[in-house]
Formats: sequence, C-alpha cells, structure tokens
Amino acid sequence: MAEADPELAARLVVQSLPAAAATLPAGLAYRIELEELGTWRVRSLGDRAEVTEVPSGAELDGDDFAISTDPRTLARLAAGANPLAALIRGRLKLSGKRRRALALRALDQGAGPRELARLGLPVDPDLLFRSLAYAIDPEWARGYRFKVAYELIGDRGGGWHVEVDDGQVRSGRGLGDQPDAIVRMRMEDWLGLLAGEITPSDSIRLGKTEIEGRIPPVTLLGRWIDRADGRDGPELEREARQRAIQARRAGTWGSRANGAGPDQGDPAEAPRPRRGGLLSYQELYALWERQNWRAHELDFSVDREHWLATPAEAQAHTAFSLGSFYVGEERVTADLAPFVLAAPTGEVEAFLSTQLVDEMRHAVFFDRWMAEVMGLEAEEMRDRLKKLEESVLTLEPWHFLFDESLRGVANRIKERPDDLELFVEGIVTYHMVTEGVLAMPGQRVIIQYTDEHGLYPGFNQGFRLVERDEHRHIAFGVRFLKDVCDERQEMKEVVLRTLTTLLPHAAEVFVPPEADDPSDFVSYGHHSSQIYGFAYQALKRRMAAIGIEIPPPEDLMPGPVDFGGLAERRGLAGESSTA
Ligand SMILES: [Fe+2]
Ligand SMILES: [Fe+2]
Repeated sequence: MAEADPELAARLVVQSLPAAAATLPAGLAYRIELEELGTWRVRSLGDRAEVTEVPSGAELDGDDFAISTDPRTLARLAAGANPLAALIRGRLKLSGKRRRALALRALDQGAGPRELARLGLPVDPDLLFRSLAYAIDPEWARGYRFKVAYELIGDRGGGWHVEVDDGQVRSGRGLGDQPDAIVRMRMEDWLGLLAGEITPSDSIRLGKTEIEGRIPPVTLLGRWIDRADGRDGPELEREARQRAIQARRAGTWGSRANGAGPDQGDPAEAPRPRRGGLLSYQELYALWERQNWRAHELDFSVDREHWLATPAEAQAHTAFSLGSFYVGEERVTADLAPFVLAAPTGEVEAFLSTQLVDEMRHAVFFDRWMAEVMGLEAEEMRDRLKKLEESVLTLEPWHFLFDESLRGVANRIKERPDDLELFVEGIVTYHMVTEGVLAMPGQRVIIQYTDEHGLYPGFNQGFRLVERDEHRHIAFGVRFLKDVCDERQEMKEVVLRTLTTLLPHAAEVFVPPEADDPSDFVSYGHHSSQIYGFAYQALKRRMAAIGIEIPPPEDLMPGPVDFGGLAERRGLAGESSTA
C-alpha cells in the first residue's frame, strides 16, 4: 500500500497515532508534518495520545521535536523501513530535540483501528475500507469472484465496496455495481464490532448487522480481514482439522458409490462371494434411496379387465395366493417397529426404518390391487385385511409363522429391547426365515407365472419391485448376522437354533390348501421338491456368507429337495409327445 497508495497508507498511520503513541513516555510531544497532507501534534498521555491537526510550518512552541516527510516515506517507515536511509537521502527531516525522537522506537507497531475503537477514539471507515484492497493477500482470493458492499449508517457513515476477482482485490467508495451482498449496520455498532465488544455472529443474530444477498462471500471476506489482522489463526486450525475429517468421511451412506450397483447384495443372488464382501448398511441405505418406487403410479387398467374375465373359482385361488402376501406385508410392517426401536446402532436403525417404509409400501401396493382390481367390498384397508385373513388364511403353518413366531419375537423385543441375543433371534425369524426362505420362492413363482401367461401386468410390475426390495432386506439381515457372529461366535448357535426350531414347520406355508401331502405337491407348475430346493439353497448361500454351515435339507424342509431351480416346469409339457 505504501507504494500503490502512499497517501492512504500515510493517513492510516496518522489515524492510528493516538493508539500507537500510547506506549511513548507520558508528556512527550512532537509534530509530524506530511507534505501536502498537513501537520499534526502528538502528545502522549500515558494510556493514549492526543493528536490534533495544527497549521503547517508553525514554531515548535515547547514540543520536543518535529518530523517532516512525504506520505510515501512515512508509509514505508511504518511498514518497517530503516529511518536512517531516509534521513540520509533527505526524505526525512528532523528538528528540535533530536535525541528525544529516539523514543519513537517505542511506537506500538500493532496499534490499528481495533485499538482505536477499544480506546473510544475516532476511526475513519473510509480509510479502512479503502485499505482492504491492500490488506488482503491476493493468494487468499485466488479462485474467488464476488462483490461485497458495506453500508454504515449515521455520522461519518457511507458506502464502500470490495471486489474480488480471482486473486485481485479492489476496494473503493460507493456500494459498487450489483454487489452479491450488502452488509449494513449503524456506525456505532460497527465501532463496537471493531472494539470487540460484540462478535460478528452475535451482531447478525441480534439484528445489528444486516446482510442483504449472499452470505458466503461476506463470511469469506470477514475471515480474510481477520487474517490480514493476524486474528484468523484459530479458525485456520479448525478449518484444517475439519477438512481432514471431511476428506476421510466423504462417501458415507453410500454417497461415494452413487449409481445403482449390480445387485441387491443378497448372497443368494450371487453365489460367488462379491468383491469387497457384503454391502455395508450405508450402501444398502443408498440403494434404498435409489430404488424408491411409487405404488400409487402402477397402472392396473389391464389387470382390472383380466380380473373381471376370471371365473369365481379361479379368482378364489388368486385371492388365496395374493392374500397371504397382502396380509403378510402388513404384518411385517407392524412387527418391524419393535426392531427399529431396539436397533443396536444408528446405521441399523436407519436401514430398518427404510425397510419399514418398504414393507408398508408393499402392503399399500397389495391393498390397491385388492381394492381396485379384486374389488373387495370393504371400504377401508384394515377391514379388507381382516376379510382376507378370515376367509383365506386358514392354514395353520401361516399362523405358526406370522402369529406365534414373528409377532411373538417382535413382542419379546418390545419388552427387552437391549437383549442382543433376542434381537439376533428376531432377525433370523424375520429376515432369514420369513423373507428369505418363505416369501422368496412364492414371489418368484408368481412373478414367473404372471410373466409367462401375460397375466396381470400391473401386478407383475409391482411384485417385481417388491421382490427387489426383499433381496435388499435379506442382504441387510445377512450383513447384520455376519457382523454379530464375527464379534461373538456364540451367536452362531442362536442362528442355528432359531432356524432348526422354525423351519420344518414354517416351510409348510408352501403347501396349498388343496394338497394333502406336504412332501409331494404341485403349486403353480412347480413340484414341492423344486420349491424346497430353491429355498434351501438360498438359505445355504446366505448362511455360508455369515460363516455358518446349516444342517442337511431333511432336517429343515418338510419334504425332499431338488436343486434344479424354479425355471423349469414339471408339467405335462415334459411328458407331451409333441414337446
Ligand atoms: Fe415386503
Ligand atoms: Fe421385506
């Protein structure tokens, strides 16, 4: 600034004298004469100095000495230049008691506008705002472009602006052209800020500082002004500390891996272990956000026509198959709530909350179909659920699974939310048995059946989305059980015990009411051994991912198993001579 705008620099020096000269011996008085700017008399009062403008060229009149120079030299001296060189070059003249001038070495170099404000001495905002262009290091402003205006209201107030343009900083009088923000305050409040009587953020909160427009440029500029004053150190340290944490944390909740993954992370879907292991809770959460869908937007117009054309007896069969899923989805929604409340970590709580939404969306999807396509008489969801539960869900294994097992464990979790072993038993019952073993094959078979026969396209579309969600739920269950079992090996026993207690009986939900032998029946074109085989194999893969070997199929399934999968139909086509 001493070079670019010596007058401004010199005026700042003169302005700061009342504070800077406070460190001089009390009683010392001298004059300072600046070419073309004027002459001031400085008299030290001990705690501060009195500075008064006097006519140039007057007699010393008892003052100790006089300094006469030009603004540029004064600004250079204030910036630390050697006074001897200036004396020799004749840029600095000294008269009076020259030895007493040595006392000037005690001038407080750090004294500036803040010190003045603290002492209640006048501060000229014009000098300050205009000097910002020099005070701010161009390096700090690299890469930034903005304009901030300051408006001070009251005596000696006015408007100023600072313009930052990628490493260049300009400041001047007036609010400037289209500033990004205008910072407005009363003169006395500005002085209060300078004096440190109030912090900038308190001043904003109390309405003493008003910001019109964008706040980030104002904040940044405030930091640079502080930095120029040597007051930004603690904030810079904080920034470095937080920057390191931010860099480490980037990508939580799956945000780094945005873009849909190849699958839902269910080990039963990908028999070979996936690279990087099981999906984390955070990745599963991100998958949920990406895969949200809308039950209310599915188009059931073709489904309605299909339904109307279907004879009553066939309708009853469909009502049975879909009804058990409908009631089941509502049950698993309600029964998941205690799991959410008992979640052992925040990550588990977050995922289970997404699942709770999913399950209710599934129930709503079915409810729409029951109400709009099947045309159930009842006007409300609960009444429709009750109607189906009473009329079609007559099978004992269904009640064993949903009433005794699932609701039972959910109720116990409600009573003992801190019991981790119980929570593990609950996840096995819910995610591994109900969703993994029992819901999955039925879903696959019904989706395949409606696909192959061009039946109920709206339902088919919705049920596919349900199936995708279910794989994600199961993937969560596997992740959770693996973590728990890795940490506490004895939990494997809990997993195995729950599976062997529940499965043989619960797996009878596959048996249609019209079949008489649970170990030998055909449902939707598939033999029971295919269904049991598909369910068993999926469970085996998931348990392998956890590190648990499950008992042989005959211990867990109600009948023989066939591992050929569900793609192949065991129907008459296989026996047909024209096939
Ligand atoms: Fe579901
Ligand atoms: Fe589910």
